[in-house]
Amino acid sequence: MLRNNKESFGLISILFHWVIALIFLGQIPLGYWMVRTSDFTLQFSLYQWHKSFGFLVLGLSALRLVWKFANTRPSDPATMGPLERATAHAAHVILYLSLFIIPVTGWAIASSSPLQIPTFMFNLVVIPPLPLGISDSAEAFWTAIHAYLAYFSAAVAVGHILAALHHHFWKRDAILTRMLNPHRKAPERQLTQKVKS
Ligand code: HEM
Ligand code: HEM
Repeated sequence: MLRNNKESFGLISILFHWVIALIFLGQIPLGYWMVRTSDFTLQFSLYQWHKSFGFLVLGLSALRLVWKFANTRPSDPATMGPLERATAHAAHVILYLSLFIIPVTGWAIASSSPLQIPTFMFNLVVIPPLPLGISDSAEAFWTAIHAYLAYFSAAVAVGHILAALHHHFWKRDAILTRMLNPHRKAPERQLTQKVKS
């Protein structure tokens, strides 16, 4: 139940997926709002929340990747054609990369900014800056990269969500449910039970 098998994701992969997806999707409107608010006290605290949750995504994604490589991946249903498989896997690779590259480019903004405002992650630890050049132009460069990548990945995530809904409501296969319900029995046990019955 904790680990993946060939039919379904296990509980740990499911928790990683949904916790990270929720924070990641929340970061987009939070980032959009915090750069546009004119209330500077609120802005300071929104930046700290945004940076804290961004580092949380980075840390959880590193753990998720270790878990992914220590587990098997459920096979694609036979109803998926080669083009559909390739598109789905390409979207997953882009989303996985985004979970690392976007927080690191955000970290680069904070590190290259002449303001040098420290990141107090959830008021618990101070995150040190990356060793980067500090200037207005470096900050503007990393801000542009961070914003473009964030909105691009949001568009990919929308495609990914629509594809999951298409599978569930149109094709009526188990793609969405296997990311919601962890399997309960190991396949060997199911097999033995079938043989016995
Ligand atoms: C899941 C990860 C993250 C996502 C999805 C994300 C997304 C965004 C978005 C959508 C914006 C608004 C862009 C705009 O409209 O101009 C933004 C701005 C910003 N983000 Fe992130 N971010 C993430 C992580 C981080 C991290 C880890 C940091 C820093 C340690 C960070 C620092 C910033 C800063 C400083 C800005 C404001 C840039 C400016 O002054 O215009 N972000 N982010
Ligand atoms: C409502 C939002 C979402 C839904 C309904 C959803 C649904 C799904 C489903 C059903 C799968 C399993 C696909 C399969 O079995 O082949 C999946 C996998 C995946 N999702 Fe999402 N997802 C959502 C949001 C996100 C977000 C925001 C991200 C990242 C930014 C993301 C990243 C991934 C990745 C990387 C995988 C591949 C997992 C692996 O094979 O290790 N998802 N998603």
